[in-house]
Amino acid sequence: MGDIKTIGVLTSGGDAPGMNPAIRAVVRAAIFNGFNVKGIRHGYNGLINDDIFDMNLRSVSEIIHRGGTMLYTARSLEFQTLEGQLKAVENCKKHGIDALVVIGGDGTFRGAQAISRHGIRTIGIPGTIDNDIACSDYTIGFDTALNTAMEMIDKLRDTTQSHERCSVVEVMGRHAGYIAVNTGIATGALCVLVPEQPWDIDKDVIARIKETQAEGKKNFLIIVAEGAGKALKIAEQIQEKTGLDTRGTVLGHVQRGGSPSMRDRVVAAQMGVHAIELLQAGIYNRVVAMKNDAIVDYEIEEALNMKKELDPLMLGVAKVVSI
Ligand code: F6P
Repeated sequence: MGDIKTIGVLTSGGDAPGMNPAIRAVVRAAIFNGFNVKGIRHGYNGLINDDIFDMNLRSVSEIIHRGGTMLYTARSLEFQTLEGQLKAVENCKKHGIDALVVIGGDGTFRGAQAISRHGIRTIGIPGTIDNDIACSDYTIGFDTALNTAMEMIDKLRDTTQSHERCSVVEVMGRHAGYIAVNTGIATGALCVLVPEQPWDIDKDVIARIKETQAEGKKNFLIIVAEGAGKALKIAEQIQEKTGLDTRGTVLGHVQRGGSPSMRDRVVAAQMGVHAIELLQAGIYNRVVAMKNDAIVDYEIEEALNMKKELDPLMLGVAKVVSI
């Protein structure tokens, strides 16, 4: 355990289903290993504004199945300034916080890196629905978001089919197409448009609709990642170019909510426990990750510099199975 006595835990950035089970794992594993635990509300803003409270084993009861985050979250602009960071460090000292476990995405890890330069030891846990953390094959929240999007699109398919229409669905993912390609495969979309691959409305969408129309297809589902285009605009273009009755749907923040799936709860527990084991071993300023189904960790700088590619084979699969 070394000289670490008290661990703070916070969630930051966009929330993700599974953050609650991750908080629960961190708190329970920390107490099991003899650490004191402090909860920090509203991400790094809570460190700056002294929104910090003692946690015990029961503080995390009844949250394992809940979406959102019991610690609330924020994207803190103030924490990006040196002044904000120094206030945060002062509050860490006031509460005796020696180490922080932060759950979130790249922005959260950059925050961890900043505060670690002032002597607060940090561990990052990847929590975002986008699955866009380069060092990790998987991020907590991705599976639940995929299942939510799939259920919504299944419902949309019913009405698209009844009206023999075309539906264009915009899914989240910021600059990444992981949600789009996976939901595209799972819902049988005719086209999946992602930011990782250039696309052309005539060649990749209209031609495909026309080809399949000629073979008797009557309803069409197009999935677009938010980083690749706007559903409403694409729907207008399709209607104009094909005459097909077309609707655009933006799934939006519904993808971030809901009870975490089995996978998200289990990965959250594995990663939360690993984070505490690292601190217990005196290892810090690392990001916990999943590689080939194993839980591993990387130095923060190294993790932030990594690149992750959307598997082109997945795009190929989406194309082949949805004619
Ligand atoms: O990173 C998660 C995410 O939901 C992205 O998919 C999306 O681009 C962004 O957050 C939306 O952020 P906000 O909740 O601030 O609108």
